[in-house]
Amino acid sequence: MNRVDSDVVFQSYGRCCNSEQFFIDFYDHFMGSSEEIRALFRNTDMSAQRHLLRNGIMQLVLHARGMSDTKLKALGESHSRSGYNIRPEWYDLWLSALLTTLRQHDPEFDDSVSQAWQRAIGPGIDCIRRAY
Ligand code: HEM
Repeated sequence: MNRVDSDVVFQSYGRCCNSEQFFIDFYDHFMGSSEEIRALFRNTDMSAQRHLLRNGIMQLVLHARGMSDTKLKALGESHSRSGYNIRPEWYDLWLSALLTTLRQHDPEFDDSVSQAWQRAIGPGIDCIRRAY
């Protein structure tokens, strides 16, 4: 991860995160990717969840910019086998849904922006996943 990636990602997220539709589309893609994932959100207030995710992605972006991993470790705990029991392989579907949604919403999205996202937030996602 380098500063350039995190600047690219920060700006890309800035072009997307003010739109509620971005988060609606993210959960459509994410829940559309697996029946099991859809089932996990059966009783979830999705409007509240969209706001929580807006903040969660910001935590990943800030981690790429050098913020401590305390908040991500807390997310790792809530998603672990003693919490929501989110299986490690599901994070790949999460990242795919995010990249699909970014491609749809960020007018400047291209392969180099996509790679910057993956390099920048990969370590933060691993931090959450590892807590399983
Ligand atoms: C809740 C972020 C990956 C399923 C949450 C919350 C945040 C969040 C901020 C609310 C705070 C909390 O309860 O701790 C993220 C981030 C992810 C990620 C940043 C990727 C790195 C996943 C994956 C799944 C998932 C892969 C499922 C396959 C859930 C569920 C809840 C939740 C079921 C609780 C919903 C409820 O309250 O009903 N997530 N999450 N998350 N997340 Fe994630």
